[in-house]
Amino acid sequence: MSNNPAMQHSSLRQEGRNLPPVQTLSVVSGKGGDGRTTVAINLAMSLAQQTAQVVLFDGNLSMGTIDTALNIKQKFNIADLVADEKDINEICVTGPYGITLVPGCHGNPEMSQLSQIQHQGIINSFSQLRTAADIMLIDNEAGISRSVLDFTYAAREVLLVVCDEPASMQNSFATIKTLSSNKECCRFRVVANKVDSSQHGLEIYSELCRQTDRYLDVLVEYCGCIPFDEEITEASRAGKALTETNSGSRSSRSFQRLAEKIMKWPKPDSAQGHPEFFLERLI
Ligand SMILES: Nc1ncnc2c1ncn2[C@@H]1O[C@H](COP(=O)(O)OP(=O)(O)O)[C@@H](O)[C@H]1O
Ligand SMILES: [Mg+2]
Repeated sequence: MSNNPAMQHSSLRQEGRNLPPVQTLSVVSGKGGDGRTTVAINLAMSLAQQTAQVVLFDGNLSMGTIDTALNIKQKFNIADLVADEKDINEICVTGPYGITLVPGCHGNPEMSQLSQIQHQGIINSFSQLRTAADIMLIDNEAGISRSVLDFTYAAREVLLVVCDEPASMQNSFATIKTLSSNKECCRFRVVANKVDSSQHGLEIYSELCRQTDRYLDVLVEYCGCIPFDEEITEASRAGKALTETNSGSRSSRSFQRLAEKIMKWPKPDSAQGHPEFFLERLI
């Protein structure tokens, strides 16, 4: 990751030229345990099964979880990129269905205290990625740390995972409020997780909208729901995504439906006027 912006910019231009734009989704939630990692991984698998080229970025920079969850051995990780020892292509690993994983590191506290400029360097480095990519999912830390804000502002879409628990609901509202406060994010796509039924998912969404409609000027769209499913926990214990172990389960079908929906969203076709992932593929 070069510290010289002019050099970085000119090399990004060369790398990004002629590559198609990439849809970018930042997966956020109000609190830990709501299911961001579960949604990011299983959605990535479902998208990849539907022939999309998927990049999965572990935004838990200091405590990566995706490599462990998927039983993937990583040699290098995001800390090597930040230290300028490896470039983005060298730290990537290939996961199931050809997914490109950008791994976080394990237990490096400095990685949780990076500056906004360092986050910007990480975001810019994605323009140098040579892998074919249609869509990237970012699995963020819980809540609204600096990295969550920076990575989410640099993505096109925000996928908010919410559960039917008071802390999840309350902090989801707080997350939407914070992310929309400087007008950087004004559309949020909601996925209700761990639901009993489709009706339950809609109720969670309606409850969230009651608060956002009253206090915030944002668009909150319902994307779908994922049922509570013991097989998800069992699959994660086995170090696999659900789609790899049982593609016929209810939750697996929900991820497939969600993936189908996402594939229909319009892809970015021009730059937004602020720093974003894969910017050089848009200019
Ligand atoms: N739909 C679901 N059904 C059953 N268990 C789930 C579901 N979604 C997530 N879990 C479980 O909840 C726990 C927290 O999920 P995780 O994805 O790690 O949350 P987060 O990344 O938001 O902290 C994990 O044990 C996971 O297996
Ligand atoms: Mg997680």
